[in-house]
Parts: sequence; structure tokens; C-alpha cells
Amino acid sequence: ELHLSSLISVESASEGEHVTFYARVHHIRPLGSKIVFVIFRSQLTTLQGVLTEEAGVVSQNMVRWAEGLNRESIVRVEGVVQSPQDGQDEVHSTRVHTKEVRILKLFVVVGPTVSLPFQVEDVARPEEYYHREGAQFSRVNQKTRLANRVLDLRSPVNQAIFRIHAGVCTLFREFLLGERFLEIQSSKFQATSTEAGAAVFKVDYFRRPAFLAQSPQLAKQMCIASDMERVFEIGPVFRAENSNTHRHLTEFTGLDLEMRFDSHYYEVLDTLDRMFIHLFRGLQERLRAEIEVVKTQFPHDDLVILDKTPRIRFAEGIRMLKEAGWKEEDGSEPDEWDDLSTKAEQRLGELMKEKYGADYYIIDKFPLEARPFYTMPDPEDNRLSNSFDIFLRGEEILSGGQRIHVAPMLEERMRDDGIDPESMKEYVDGFRWGCPPHGGGGLGLERVVMLFLKLGDIRYASLFPRDPRSFP
Ligand code: 4AD
Repeated sequence: ELHLSSLISVESASEGEHVTFYARVHHIRPLGSKIVFVIFRSQLTTLQGVLTEEAGVVSQNMVRWAEGLNRESIVRVEGVVQSPQDGQDEVHSTRVHTKEVRILKLFVVVGPTVSLPFQVEDVARPEEYYHREGAQFSRVNQKTRLANRVLDLRSPVNQAIFRIHAGVCTLFREFLLGERFLEIQSSKFQATSTEAGAAVFKVDYFRRPAFLAQSPQLAKQMCIASDMERVFEIGPVFRAENSNTHRHLTEFTGLDLEMRFDSHYYEVLDTLDRMFIHLFRGLQERLRAEIEVVKTQFPHDDLVILDKTPRIRFAEGIRMLKEAGWKEEDGSEPDEWDDLSTKAEQRLGELMKEKYGADYYIIDKFPLEARPFYTMPDPEDNRLSNSFDIFLRGEEILSGGQRIHVAPMLEERMRDDGIDPESMKEYVDGFRWGCPPHGGGGLGLERVVMLFLKLGDIRYASLFPRDPRSFP
């Protein structure tokens, strides 16, 4: 009976064991006229196969035929596990193995019908590989990779990235379910914009204008007003910002939560902090192999997570920047009453690393002016707000805070912002009818994956990325 093993289990099989497995042909290398090495690949790993001419077992024709196999063919292989006889092909393998397979039979299940725009092994190479002896890799630029994403996604590094991507959702959900949160799915059709500004995608809703949700902000607050107490959502978020940067997408996955609290919004902040620690430690423990595979292409140090997350106030962050003599490109000093620019965030990240040794930290008490209308002012100083951002390696991954739950105050803040409360009646009614004090936050999945793994560009953390320029 056929027993199909994965490549990983082939490696853990003992010498002399017969195995049958499916894999892709990753690379082919003849050695003389009687031997051909076929490097097989499956998801995260490669494995070396050797086909040697042998009377009564492997014919010369078969060796010739194998030399001409199309790369990326899916093959079914029957063979015997052995320790590498003629050494390992380290250049073309994703890692050094202790086993190889002596090929007895090899069937092509299905193969490519056209020539490939690039080879999968070309995409996932650290710089040093291009200069190795015997290596014949061509560089593939990001545009070509993304334009042929299905092929690109086959690389072990991409396979690892999307396992980590899934891991973030699993750990987020796992933590919150354990804290009695209710998972919700809110509508992505909205009658009004949810985050300040005009960055919304308009759609035609049976001849009425509608918008794609910029966040589940209003919906999750309405759930609190509906007595659901603690809710979270994992879902798509749409932003029509024409931002062509390394960290903006027009569609990303939002991981949002909202909760009622008893006496202070730090109950929300503490929950978020514990969630992130669970998330990052969980990734580091459960997806260790995947992280190591990603490092082969995107070298980075593991994220440093302290037992106690550093928390500073916004004004303190500005003071640190000023003391370090940091200035914006136009020469202006960072402003205590204005939001942080990307460059300022990054510099502050370096300063936080120097001072606390932390890659992950919290900045509390943002200026009210820099926050959306639903943000609760700080009762001790109403130029400030009870809101915070959470950072990873010097870039924002989450924003959150306490929300205004008192209707007259909310209506006033809306009017100040030029929003007619009646245009958001369903939302405002929830507060008019009484809503408990609450707060929450939202993080961007792709942003977290990009920064956790230091990918340098958010597109690498999105399956089929959408940005202002790229659209199929
Ligand atoms: O800071 P944002 O806009 O906050 C909200 O949406 C609030 N409703 C959250 C809350 O509960 N108060 O977005 C939250 C996070 C950011 O920290 C960032 O990680 C990510 O979403 N994000 C983006 N990711 C990719 N592309 C974009 N254009 C993003 N904009 C925000």
C-alpha cells in the first residue's frame, strides 16, 4: 500500500526505509553521465534525491529523462532513505539535511505547460547566495514577483510568512476567547465614514452612495452599547489613501477589539498588552522553524519582549526626541500637540531601544487634536486624550483608547469635527440610550507580520497586496 510522506517525515525516517512522497522539482543537477541530483521541494523545505544508473533498477534512459524534467513539476517519488553519499547540494537546498533519498521510481503527476517567468529558488535568496560558487541564480525584483504571485508564493520563505500570518490570527483569537470576548463579523458596507478624513472607497449601493468600512470602529462600539461587553473582529479594512509607502495598503486585515471597563481605561490597555505578549511569545515558541526560514531571506534579530512593557506618555516621547536633538526634514522640532511623523516614530523607536532595550512599547496620552472624534479627552487635561498607540521596532502597529460613551459630549465633538450627529443616527442613538464606559484598539495584521519579521515592505506580508498602484 502506498504511504505518502511529507518531506519533513522523510528526513526523520531511518536509513534503508522505503518512502513515497509528492513534491515539486525544485532544481536538477547532473553529475557525470550516470548520476542526477533532483532537489525536491515541499512547502518549507527541500530534500535531495539521487538517481543513479543501476542495472535492473534504474536505466540510463531514466537518468537522461530525469535530467530533462521541467522544474516545478509535481512528482510522485518512490525511494529509499540514505545518508548523503556525494555530499549535499547546499546552494540549492533550503537547509542542510542529514538524509537524502535514493530514487527508485519517479512519476510526473502534473507539470507546467509554459515556461516560467522565474525560478522559485531565485526569489528566496539572501544576498550572499548570488555570489556563491556554482550558483546561477538570477535576481527577481519585487514587481516581477508580485506580478507572478502564485509562483512567488511557492518559495519556502513565503510559505513560512503565511504560516506566521495565520499564527497571528490564531493567537489573537485564542487569547481573546480565553478572556470571554465574543467574536463578531460586522458589515463592510457603511453609510458614513468611520475614521476621520475622506479616505473612503465609494460604492454604488442600489443607486445610493455607500462606503467600504475603514474599520469596524462604529460597529464594535454599537455592540458594546448592545450589552455584548467584550467583542473582537478579524476582517477586511479599506482605506482609499493614496499612500505609496512601505507600510500602507488600501485593503488590509484589521484585528480589532472593544470592551467595557469598570473604572479605568488602563484595563483595556492591560488587556491589549497581555494579548500582544501572548501573541509574540506564541509565535516565537510555536513557529520557531518558520521564523528561521524567513531569516534566510530577511535576516533579523528576534523581537525583544520585556516582562514589563515600557509605557511612556506622548509628551515624554517628544521630550526624548528633542533631547536627542532630532528634527524633521524641514528643520522643525517635534511638536507636543501634533501627531508623530513616520521618521519621528522610527527615531523614537531607536531611542526606546537604547533606553529600555525594548522593541515593543506603548505610548499613552496622545494630543486630542491628533485623534478621531470618538476619542475620550483626558479629564485632567482636555488638550490630551485617553488614547494610546502601540509600537513594534519603531512603527505603529495599533491605535486605541477610551471612547466617548456620553451622548451630549459625543455630539459636541462630532459637530466640532464638522459631522452632523443625525447623519450617524444609528451610532449616536446607542449612546443616547445609555452605553457603559468602554475602550479598545485595532491593529493591522500585515503591519504586525512585516515588523515582527522585519520584511521591510508590507506587500510581502499580504497574499495578493492591494496598494494604490497595484490592482490586477
Ligand atoms: O490607526 P488606525 O487607523 O485606527 C483605527 O482604525 C481605529 N478604529 C482603531 C481603534 O480601535 N481605535 O488603524 C489601526 C491599525 C494601525 O495601527 C496599523 O497597524 C493598521 O491598522 N493600518 C494599516 N495597515 C496597512 N495599511 C494601512 N493603510 C493602514 N492603516 C492603518
